[in-house]
Amino acid sequence: MSFSTDLLSWYDGRIRDLPWRGEQDPYRIWLSEIMLQQTQAATVRHYYIRFLEHFPTVFHLAKTDEQSVLKLWEGLGYYSRARNLQKTARIVAENLSGRFPDSAKALLALPGIGPYTANAIASIAYGEPVPALDGNQARVIARAEAWDHPLKTPFDLLTPALERMDPQRPGDYNQALMDLGATLCTPRAPACEGCPVAAHCRAHLEGDPLDYPRKSPPSEKKQQERTVLLLAMDGRILVRRREGGLLEGLYGFVDIEGHHDPERLLQSLPAMGFVGPVTTKELPDSRHVFTHRIWRMKGWMGTCLGAPQGYIPVDAAALSLLPFPSAFSVYLDIAREWLGPPHPDAQSRK
Ligand code: ADE
Repeated sequence: MSFSTDLLSWYDGRIRDLPWRGEQDPYRIWLSEIMLQQTQAATVRHYYIRFLEHFPTVFHLAKTDEQSVLKLWEGLGYYSRARNLQKTARIVAENLSGRFPDSAKALLALPGIGPYTANAIASIAYGEPVPALDGNQARVIARAEAWDHPLKTPFDLLTPALERMDPQRPGDYNQALMDLGATLCTPRAPACEGCPVAAHCRAHLEGDPLDYPRKSPPSEKKQQERTVLLLAMDGRILVRRREGGLLEGLYGFVDIEGHHDPERLLQSLPAMGFVGPVTTKELPDSRHVFTHRIWRMKGWMGTCLGAPQGYIPVDAAALSLLPFPSAFSVYLDIAREWLGPPHPDAQSRK
């Protein structure tokens, strides 16, 4: 017996009493799939029945006002679904003579229909052999296949899902996978003893269903090396307002990409427009972790006689008024100490 034979005989033996099961009408199938986006079947049930009492065809839905649709949707959440529902109803009623497009590709062009919903509708309403993959179905397939890669999207599993599909019954195959993922093949407690496809499931046979789907490793933060300089000019420290990038609008000291020793600094600083730079002292290293990157900083103290545009020499009082990111806090403390306390007459934040 194959994966799909065992899956479908389980499905046939327990068809859930859901009002859209066995339905042939694309309008009703579309409505159920939109309602089932992010919402459990048990919740959708009575909304679906009541909605169809008010709007038995796509023409009824197209003719009504948005307010009435939203009223019937009340409590179901994700209200953009209800607005898209009516947009689609109007397109179908007015431009397509009431007939829903009959392929997944064409359905995708309608408002509120993404790849999962397009494939679900096309497989159930038209028997198109296209897998409908969301998190639940992807989990079943990832386990059956012992798929060894983290999933960027459930559709990474398109090929193994398609290989297992019964081409005679694509809609039932998709709905059986939905049911299996929702009831037995759950994320944390898969009930493999009762599972109709356990004999075809590599993860189960290898004893580690919980290891699938593989998790993405936490994204590696990019490490960046920088050299920060406390350059003094006329007894003040040079700072600049940062333009663009991560710390836009905040102030910083002279800082250069890469780790530079004094020899290299004395080459790069004149090239940047600093006049007569001299390094005087090595400062402690510092490290700052941003959301997506880490700065590893080396620091130097120095002096210069002139600075390029954009740099301003500040005294202790001015320094205390400017916003600095915490990435520079080690060097800010050293700068404060070096400049000494602000003059008592100076206006200060502290
Ligand atoms: N979730 C999305 N589509 C579904 C369907 N047709 N049956 C049950 N759950 C679903």
